[in-house]
Amino acid sequence: MNADLMEKIVSLCKRRGFIFQSSEIYGGLESTWDYGPLGVELKRNVKEAWWRSVVYERDDMEGIDAAILMHPSVWMASGHVESFADLLVDCRGCKKRFRLDQLIPTQKSPGREPRPLDQGAPQEKKCPECGGALTEPRRFNLMFKTSVGSVEEQGSAIYLRPETAQGIFVNFDNVLTTSRRKLPFGIAQAGKAFRNEITTGNFTFRSREFEQMEIEYFVKPGADEEWHKKWIDERLNWYLRFGLREEHLRLRPHGKDEIAHYAKACTDIEYLFPMGWSELEGIANRTDFDLKQHSRLSGKDLSYFDEEAKERFVPYVIEPSGGVDRAVLAFLIDSYREEIVKQEKRVVLGLHKALAPVKAAILPLLKNRGEIVAMCKTITAELSRLFKVKYDDTASIGRLYRRQDEIGTPFCITVDVDSLSDRKATVRDRDTMQQDRVSVDKLKEYLTEKMIG
Ligand code: GAP
Repeated sequence: MNADLMEKIVSLCKRRGFIFQSSEIYGGLESTWDYGPLGVELKRNVKEAWWRSVVYERDDMEGIDAAILMHPSVWMASGHVESFADLLVDCRGCKKRFRLDQLIPTQKSPGREPRPLDQGAPQEKKCPECGGALTEPRRFNLMFKTSVGSVEEQGSAIYLRPETAQGIFVNFDNVLTTSRRKLPFGIAQAGKAFRNEITTGNFTFRSREFEQMEIEYFVKPGADEEWHKKWIDERLNWYLRFGLREEHLRLRPHGKDEIAHYAKACTDIEYLFPMGWSELEGIANRTDFDLKQHSRLSGKDLSYFDEEAKERFVPYVIEPSGGVDRAVLAFLIDSYREEIVKQEKRVVLGLHKALAPVKAAILPLLKNRGEIVAMCKTITAELSRLFKVKYDDTASIGRLYRRQDEIGTPFCITVDVDSLSDRKATVRDRDTMQQDRVSVDKLKEYLTEKMIG
């Protein structure tokens, strides 16, 4: 993939209001990002498309929205206090800090993604920046610690959740009993997660504050491997359905040495980002690890009684776990194209219609004609009940089209002098640039049909 594509995406995101550096006016906070007016719409649409497909379009799923702050025992039970750590080495010369798993291929931190690595033991390794000697590795837990209440004392320490998954596990019994579900069934949740990442960069790819879209799917032990395969297919198809190109996606099963402490197997869906193949989503077979651990530490029985087989067991769990920010980044990258139209460069974000931040722009051909502007405003008000639409009269029609192409708006609706007499507007398609003349009072149906189709 084109190496300078990331730079183009970063620049477009800033210029058009998709993504800004957090706290920019203070010089920025590294690896934290703010989504601007268009970015927030795109991100909401990605989460909505995910929620629709995994909760509404299936009859075996429920959703929840658990708190970010959880009882500290949760992270003891899950193994995060013990294991959610990177091994770090410092350079004795330039004092820079590195993750050991980026320098030595065999030393992987539990639950962390593998990285491109080179060979050698830490003692033999030199600092990749200045060639200086490295310290012995030390463990560095990635969870952000804070405290509850007004007194900062030992007992009040809690963590910002490093994954949304645990909010689902601790609610397994609540959801099971209130929704009267039978196995197999799943629980979905999208929300913020926090990790004090050491190696950051590549724009939003690895951030310290990010969002996850996670599913915990509970099955009978023995049925887990079949469900694992089904969920890998299901999730791969979701990325294809919303526009990522097949040749930019691949599946990568984890090797035995890189599997997280809680999992029996894991397959990553990887996307060909400009910096190379990297994880978009992981689909893990978490076995009964989490439910058993929470039963043990909380004292609450989290087993399931199978009425038909008359047997009690602790369910196994299949976990498709994706990153919202990584999905947003992949959709932006994959949809970006430059083309020459009438000897001029046209930049287009060919986003899937369901993901596009603005569905239609309403543009007056002559902004000084009061009746034309009034008609545009009426159309805007009508359509805004159904879609995110935008009125714009701040440039010539050619420039307005280009602007909308660049942010991925699927339709531009132009009102001209003829519209005043024939009550029709011109609807231009972003991808084909074809224009249809549509009755103003049929615009809702026209767009609804196009959006759903
Ligand atoms: N509950 C399992 C879990 O959290 P993970 O592979 O550590 O597994 C799942 O994270 C997904 O969350 C990843 O595939 C990635 O898309 C996203 N993710 C993880 N760390 C991230 C980070 N620092 N910045 C952005 N996204 C991240």
